[in-house]
Order: sequence, then structure tokens, then C-alpha cells
Amino acid sequence: MGLPSADGRLGLRILKDLLKGGSILGALSAMREGLGDAFQIKFAGFKPVVLSGPKHGRRILVKERDKFAWRNESDPVTSLLRHGFLVVDDEEHDKLRQIIEPALTRKHVHDHVAMMVGYSEQVMSRWPTEGTVDMLVEMRKVSLLILIKSLFGVDITDRMESLWPHVLGVIKYVSPGPWIVLPWKKRFGFKRNIREMDSFLFETIQSARNTTGERSEPTLLDDLISAGLNDDTIRDQMLTLLIAGHDTNTAHLAWTLYELGAHTDTKSKVVEEVTSILGSDRPSKESIDRLEYLGMVINESLRLHPPIHVSNRKSKCPFHVNGSTVPENTRTMFSIYLTQREGEHWDQPDTFMPERFESGNKRTPFSFLPFGGGPRNCIGAIYAQVEAKVVLACVLQSFEIELAEKNVGEHMGATLEPKPGVTMSVRKRMPQLS
Ligand code: HEM
Repeated sequence: MGLPSADGRLGLRILKDLLKGGSILGALSAMREGLGDAFQIKFAGFKPVVLSGPKHGRRILVKERDKFAWRNESDPVTSLLRHGFLVVDDEEHDKLRQIIEPALTRKHVHDHVAMMVGYSEQVMSRWPTEGTVDMLVEMRKVSLLILIKSLFGVDITDRMESLWPHVLGVIKYVSPGPWIVLPWKKRFGFKRNIREMDSFLFETIQSARNTTGERSEPTLLDDLISAGLNDDTIRDQMLTLLIAGHDTNTAHLAWTLYELGAHTDTKSKVVEEVTSILGSDRPSKESIDRLEYLGMVINESLRLHPPIHVSNRKSKCPFHVNGSTVPENTRTMFSIYLTQREGEHWDQPDTFMPERFESGNKRTPFSFLPFGGGPRNCIGAIYAQVEAKVVLACVLQSFEIELAEKNVGEHMGATLEPKPGVTMSVRKRMPQLS
């Protein structure tokens, strides 16, 4: 007996959404409700098994993870990242992860807090004293500047404008779209974006090789060079970190600002916390972990809007699920989004309630996994949480913010983004901070 699959109506809805480049999350939620925690979507060239819930999460991410590969040769993300450690398996992955991990520990990330503040101020300095800004665009600028400086030691302020279209281009290249159901369809227009990104990355590697040993604080790029990797392998890891690191942070920050705009009581509580803990100082590595309520808001935003909403795998061998056998080479998707909204594990699952993350509140293991789980969980989880606190605290210290456009939907790009963006009215706060 096979897994339950969608009837024609839901199948067509998914197809239509994919062809339009929209979000298929509404259709997936309806399938989860009608078909249970394991079902299959069936189109000619696209027949993924979709799993959700703590039981399946634990299996895919931990207990039976060896049955599933991360690398899928036919996915655009593999042709873009080549041998980036996000798209390789086994020993090749583990060796690379070992080189990269030390630069992303809490201690190292804390050393970047002052720089994160600096770039937040730089981006906010271009906002009007009173006016509107699109937080999706602004948070992408902040995230890119911070990530590239902290990991590769490069300030891209002056190159932002020229790099911007190519960054967006490569993200579009790996975003879901008609290619999923029409894999034979040629995809035009991305070569130039990839070439331009490559030329930036190779230039950065060359310049770091020329100055290696001169920096008092080695960067992650220095670690990759010291490990003896060649330029192509380093390029693959840099692009992996750049895409996996900045697009997720962008979406997360934009969603959190949206939720703060939509819930003014929560926003007032965060402002109160930021003011009482930081006073007139900017966040520092000493104070950042004390912003506990902001941490709860961040978690609740990650629960409702997980930027990586699905873990994508390919089965290496047949596996059993709910009494059915799924053959090898099946695309297997574990839905973080559906899991984090399951009524069995969450009270009022669709409601924004940061208080559910108060310390002491118990939750089912593997019901909250915005950063994945097991040995291949998100390598940038600490980085992302620290950066989110720094940037959000700085924004709330400097500006009063309100949603200017409440009608915001979900867009399934490379990450789950707010669509068409998060337009907010901003008004500069006085007095200035010290
Ligand atoms: C809010 C921000 C972020 C979220 C929600 C997020 C989420 C995730 C998730 C769910 C996974 C596991 C995917 C799976 O099981 O298929 C993952 C893996 C990964 N993330 Fe993140 N991430 C974030 C930020 C970052 C940052 C800042 C970096 C880099 C500095 C990063 C780099 C990576 C990499 C390289 C992997 C693959 C790890 C491996 O295969 O060993 N992420 N992330």
C-alpha cells in the first residue's frame, strides 16, 4: 500500500502555485489536515514524500539520517554550490564542517557584536527621519554587510549596489518555481549572476591569500585557507555560507519586524526591555544575552515563519513510513513549517504568542526546529540569533516603527519570505544614543 496522495483538486492547486512562483504552503497545510503526517505529491516528474511532526523529524534528522542524502544532482542548488558543505554528504561534509564550525561558536560571534551595531547604524542612517521603508530590502542590506565582513573580512559598502542584482539573481536561481515540475525546461539569464558572484569571491580569496597572517583576528576565510583548501573548494564554502546565511537572516528579521508591527503590545514590551537593559547604550557582547523577551519574540517569529521551511533529502535506500515502503531515490521533504504549527503540540498554533517560550514552559522535543536538528543542524544558529537581537534592538532604539501595509503574504523563495515585503512607517526617536 502506498502513502496517501493528494486528490486532483489539491494537486492542481500545488501545480498552479508552483507555476506562478507562489507559496505551496496553503496547499500543504490542507494536505496535512486531510491526509495525515506522511503523504505523497504526485506529478509526472515530481513525486516527493512530505513528512511532518516530531516523530518523523527525529527519524530524518537523527535516528535514520544515514538513509537520506542531502545532495541531489538535479537540483539548481547543487549546480550553484557545487561542493559546498550544504550539498555534500558523509566524510566530505564532515571534514568541511569541522574546519568551519569554530568560527561560528558563541564566543566568536560575540566578538562581532560591535561590528553588527556599526552596520545597523550605517543602514539606518539612510532612512528618513519620518517616512516609509521596506524592511525586507533594508534587512537584506544589513545581513549582507554583516555576514561578508564577519566571515570574509570584507566591507562591501561601496560594492553593495553592483553586487545587489547578482545576489538577488543567484537567490532566484535556487528558489522553487516551474523548474520543479518541468525539470527539462532551460533556465536562462543566471549565468551572468553566477559569474559576477564568482569573480567577487575569487578576488576576495586572492586578496586574503596575499594578506594571510597579517590579521590579528583571523576570519573564517583565513581558516579555510589555512586548512589547505584550493580556491574552487573555498569558493563553494563561501557561496554556501553567503546564501544560507544572509537570505535566512533577511527573511527572519523582516518577519519579526512585521510581527512587532502587527502586535503593538509585544512591541512596547520589547522596547521597554531594550530601554531598561541597555539604557542609552547600544547592545554589546556583555548585554546582548540579557534581552530575554526579545529572544522569545525571535523564537515565536521563527516558529510561525521558519525561513527554511523544509528539509530536503533524497532516500538512499527504501524506507518505511506509516506502514508503507517508500523506494530509494525518492525526494523526501520534512516540513518544519507544518511541524511548528501542529495543534497536537502547540496551543493556538497560528497565533503569535511569544510568552509560550517563557523559560520553564515544556514542549515536545522536535516540535520546534527552525534550525533543523541532529549533527547537520544549522551551523549558523548562534550567529543568526545574536545578529537578530543586535539588529532588532538597534532598530527599536533608533526608530518608532509601524506597519504601513498590513496585507503581507508568504512567498516561497530560497527562504520563506514576506510578500511583497514589509513596508513600515519609521520615525526617528530622540534623544540620540550615546
Ligand atoms: C534565521 C536564520 C537561519 C535559519 C532559520 C536557518 C535554518 C537552517 C536549517 C533549518 C538548516 C537545516 C536544513 C536541513 O535540515 O535540511 C540549516 C542548515 C545550515 N545553515 Fe542555517 N539558518 C539560519 C542562518 C544561518 C546562518 C547565519 C548561516 C551561516 C553563517 C547558516 C548556514 C547554514 C549551513 C551552512 C547549513 C548546512 C549545515 C550542514 O549541512 O552541516 N544558516 N539552517
